[in-house]
This record gives sequence, C-alpha cells and structure tokens, in this order.
Amino acid sequence: MLKAEGDAVFIRGRTELDRVLNGAAPPQTEVDALKSGLHTLVFHPSAAERMQATRDLNQRLESLCQPITTGIVNLTVTGGPPWLTPQKIDAWLGTTHGEIAIDADEATAWVHHLDGFLIGGRPISAEVALAKGHRLPPLARKHRGRARQTGQGCWLPFNDEQGRLSASPRPIAIKHGEMLAAQEHIVFDPCCGLGADAIGAALVGATVLAGDICATRIALARKNAAHFGVSDAIHFEVGPAAETLQRWSKSHPVHSLFLDPPWGGKEWDRQHMNYSALMEPLGDLCPFIAAAKSVVIKLPRTFDTLTLPLHTWEFSLAIASRDDHIADRVRMITAHSSDK
Ligand SMILES: C[S@@+](CC[C@H](N)C(=O)[O-])C[C@H]1O[C@@H](n2cnc3c(N)ncnc32)[C@H](O)[C@@H]1O
Repeated sequence: MLKAEGDAVFIRGRTELDRVLNGAAPPQTEVDALKSGLHTLVFHPSAAERMQATRDLNQRLESLCQPITTGIVNLTVTGGPPWLTPQKIDAWLGTTHGEIAIDADEATAWVHHLDGFLIGGRPISAEVALAKGHRLPPLARKHRGRARQTGQGCWLPFNDEQGRLSASPRPIAIKHGEMLAAQEHIVFDPCCGLGADAIGAALVGATVLAGDICATRIALARKNAAHFGVSDAIHFEVGPAAETLQRWSKSHPVHSLFLDPPWGGKEWDRQHMNYSALMEPLGDLCPFIAAAKSVVIKLPRTFDTLTLPLHTWEFSLAIASRDDHIADRVRMITAHSSDK
C-alpha cells in the first residue's frame, strides 16, 4: 500500500496483486501510465500532483483487478444439438428451463466442466450473467479434476476390463430393454459384449438373439445371463454382426434391433464420433436398421447425431445416477426409432 498525504493506493492482498501480475497482460500504454503514476507519487515535489497521481493509480489498478463475484449467481446452460431441449438439460443437471441459481464458486466449476462440453456433436454453453467488469472466482483446486467412476462397480459378476468399460449400467440396460420390447418381443443384440443390454431386455420379457465377435465375451455373457436367471430367454452366438444379423433376419423377420458398437476403448476419440467412424467398421448395417420394427442405438455422448441414416430418431441422454459428477452423468446418448 502506497500512501500520499491522506490518500492511498490499495492492492488488496496477494490474490489481487497476482491477478494484476498474472492476468491478461495490460497493454503497454497502461503499464507506462502505471509506471509514470508511481514515479509522480514517489518523487513529485507537489503534494497536489502526488494526490492526483494517487487517484489516477487507484482507478487504473481497480480496472485491472476486476472484482470477483461472490454469493449466489444465475447460470444458464444452452446449445448442443437441436434435440437437446431445456427439459432434457433439466433432467441431466437439475436446472429449471436450463437455469440454476448456485454459489459463485460452484458456478465456476460448472463453467469449467460444461462450457464447450460436446453433446451429440455440438458444444453446449454454460454462462453466468455477471455485473459489468466482474468475474467469477478462480477455479478451486478441488473442482479441477474429477474422479471418474467409469467401469467401476460393474453389475455383471462375470466380466473383463474392456467389457466393464463398455457394459451399460443396469438402469440404462433395463430402459433399453423396455424401449425394444415395447414394439416387438424378439430383440437382436449383435454386439452384446458382457450381455448387459441383452440381459436388460430379457429381464423385461424379451427373447434375445445375442452375438459378439469375441468368444471370450460370449462365454462371460452366458454366465451373466445364468446368474440373472435369463439363460432360457437369450440365444448366444459368436460371430461378426453383419453375418449374425443376416441369419437372424431370415429366421426372425419381425424383430427389434439393439446396436452397441465398440467406441474404441478407454481412450475413445471424443472429437470424431459419427456414423461412419462408429458403425461402418461393422459392415453395412443400414438395411438392418431400416428393416427392424424398432431400433435402439447406444451412442457416445459426443456422437454427431445428424450423421445417423434416415429415420425419425428420438434422442435421450442416458443418465445412470445423479450422484455422478455433472459431466460424467451423461453416460451415452440413446437413439430410438420406433414408428416404423
Ligand atoms: C460396446 S461393447 C458392447 C457392450 C454391451 N452392450 C454391454 O452392455 O455389455 C461392443 C462389443 O462389440 C464387439 N464387436 C466388435 N466388433 C464386432 C463385430 N464386427 N461384430 C460383432 N461384435 C463386435 C466387441 O467384442 C464388444 O464386446
């Protein structure tokens, strides 16, 4: 704090000083003006000049130290793909019409984790309307990272590492099963992995034809089905999706279809998820998508939903638990097409 005859230049503590020093670099003219003001304040023989320099310095420092907003602020979440309605945002985040009144510290964390977050191939925006010149508090260390729960606590007793990562959580598997069985009780699941969704469909009364290219997964899925008492309702087969679908379509022309292609493991490519990247490695599935009574596709949350072929799709955010971190609650997007 520098004093000049009763008036003073204040920098209120270390944090503000850091902000002046480390924040957006002030333009050179501003630095020159600050230097010259300080020079006047310390060396000028005239008390009036020193006083004027003090006022000027205070004003300049004030504008560099944008005041931090504290207390409750209004945060608004918008954007994303056209189907991401405020109601869907509310179900995900607990907002009302996409808005929430929260503490400024928490708002900083929400902006950090959600602003620019990709849903359905489009970024969402998380914004706080602040008083002019104000800013949000810096991000607290505890909000920087987040302990990801992905793959832990798998509900299927027989599993492997890759299978744990990709298995649908139980409430989501049951929901998929309900969507599929509502239209037709025969359900095809040609990339069944550990069998989560096949078991979900069987638990709500469907008869499932389940396949996977990996024989080890099929063996695990069989054991999981036995554990949940639905072995009789699921017919398992090892084979590539394009081949099993071809065969099953002949024996069961009327059916629902569930598709859960591999996303690419733990380090799946979040930026470039679209129909050709995700589905085309499985072969041409378009005829099978067109022929099924109802189709449910499990998609990564960043998947560009506009790239799905034809059809009237209903999209929903699949949320396993509201206890998860806000950014981790959206486990996937469910695309559902049923009015066929
Ligand atoms: C995302 S996982 C399925 C997870 C499963 N829905 C669950 O919840 O347990 C994708 C599965 O597709 C299988 N897969 C990969 N390529 C395949 C192909 N061409 N045909 C059939 N299955 C394939 C993988 O072995 C993997 O188990």
